[in-house]
Amino acid sequence: MISLSCFVCNSLVAFKAVCVCPDIEFKQGEKRHVVEVEVLFDGIRKMREAFTVHLKPDENMVAETQVTKAIVYIEESNSMADVTFPSLPNVMSLLHYDDVARKADNLYPPAGYPVICVTACDPKYPDYDKTGSICVSERINNTLTRYRWLISAPAGPNGVTSPMKEVDFETFFTSAKMITLDSVYFQAGSRVRCAARAVNSNGEEGLELSSPIVTISQEEGMCPPHKMGTVGAEPFSAKLHYTGTDDLKHPNLIKVTITMPHIDGMLPVISTRPLTNFDLTLSPDGTRVGNHRCSNLLDFSEVTTGHGFITASIQSPESIGESAPYQFSSSLRGNSTLRFYKNLNLEACLWEFRSYYHMSELLTDCGGTIGTNGQVCIAFV
Ligand SMILES: *[C@@H]1O[C@H](CO)[C@@H](O)[C@H](O)[C@H]1NC(C)=O
Ligand SMILES: *[C@@H]1O[C@H](CO)[C@@H](O)[C@H](O)[C@H]1NC(C)=O
Repeated sequence: MISLSCFVCNSLVAFKAVCVCPDIEFKQGEKRHVVEVEVLFDGIRKMREAFTVHLKPDENMVAETQVTKAIVYIEESNSMADVTFPSLPNVMSLLHYDDVARKADNLYPPAGYPVICVTACDPKYPDYDKTGSICVSERINNTLTRYRWLISAPAGPNGVTSPMKEVDFETFFTSAKMITLDSVYFQAGSRVRCAARAVNSNGEEGLELSSPIVTISQEEGMCPPHKMGTVGAEPFSAKLHYTGTDDLKHPNLIKVTITMPHIDGMLPVISTRPLTNFDLTLSPDGTRVGNHRCSNLLDFSEVTTGHGFITASIQSPESIGESAPYQFSSSLRGNSTLRFYKNLNLEACLWEFRSYYHMSELLTDCGGTIGTNGQVCIAFV
């Protein structure tokens, strides 16, 4: 009698197969044994799943196990599900989206501007003349593509890099599941990659492909720290001004204007309430809305006072056009992101937030107090 044991492995994390199978005993004259492997459906649709079956050496070293490994593929039977990008996506700066020729520079996107995941089915893809027809034949609709982003902190002084981790931190003004990744998620030296899953016009999902890793430039940025000769060198300033009756749009209100310099990757937070848990404060969760009623943490639809720092407009009336490519593209960056960044003058590297409050709002909503001399005191943090 010979006793063998086997085990089952799978390299795909999301996929589950039972990982050990019982010892197999071959009695004299026996030629075959059937071992059942239970495969559990994980609900994630893939074109192809694979697992391997390994045969361990016979403990007594009697059996000659020549073939010790078999790879088992399970193919998707529905051919419509053959929805896979013909080649890997690329990460590049949104600044260079139109500039296919700048491939070498694209390896180091500048800090302080979003990066974009360009799939092989995006007409801006460098080899789209070759990949485009495959996308059409697989009926991939690139506007339905599902994106994920992975980042890692800049390498340490000894060049040691940390592992890539999925960005799962959502904020009230941007998401990490879009075609672009906002620059608050990275800094100079960060490593970034995107993963894109193709979807066809029937809504069927295919395999996910990951881009090569790019490193955010250490030399180039929109508003690097200590940029010489910019208005961005001005310190934080907050002004309160009573509009009076002359202001036709906002009569008899207190105008609050807050300006501060911008540095790549920075996120300015203005509130009349103390900021405690930063993650919770920025999350799309409702506690932010309840706690910070006079802040720039409210999207315009969440504002309960007459006016708020974030308004419905996505482009500042003072800005004539885009100072950088796709700066005001709602399809690529999302409207809530644009509403927030409307307050940033990217050329001057300066944030300016403005809002108008009624005296009673300052007291009831913003946590203002009446001082001993009858003045209203309000603090912004
Ligand atoms: C792709 O999907 C979008 C969003 O559902 C839809 O508006 C568009 O018409 C689709 N395009 C094609 C070519 O099917
Ligand atoms: C984004 O805003 C623009 C302009 O205000 C509007 O035309 C567009 O429909 C908005 N898009 C979405 C997805 O809400």
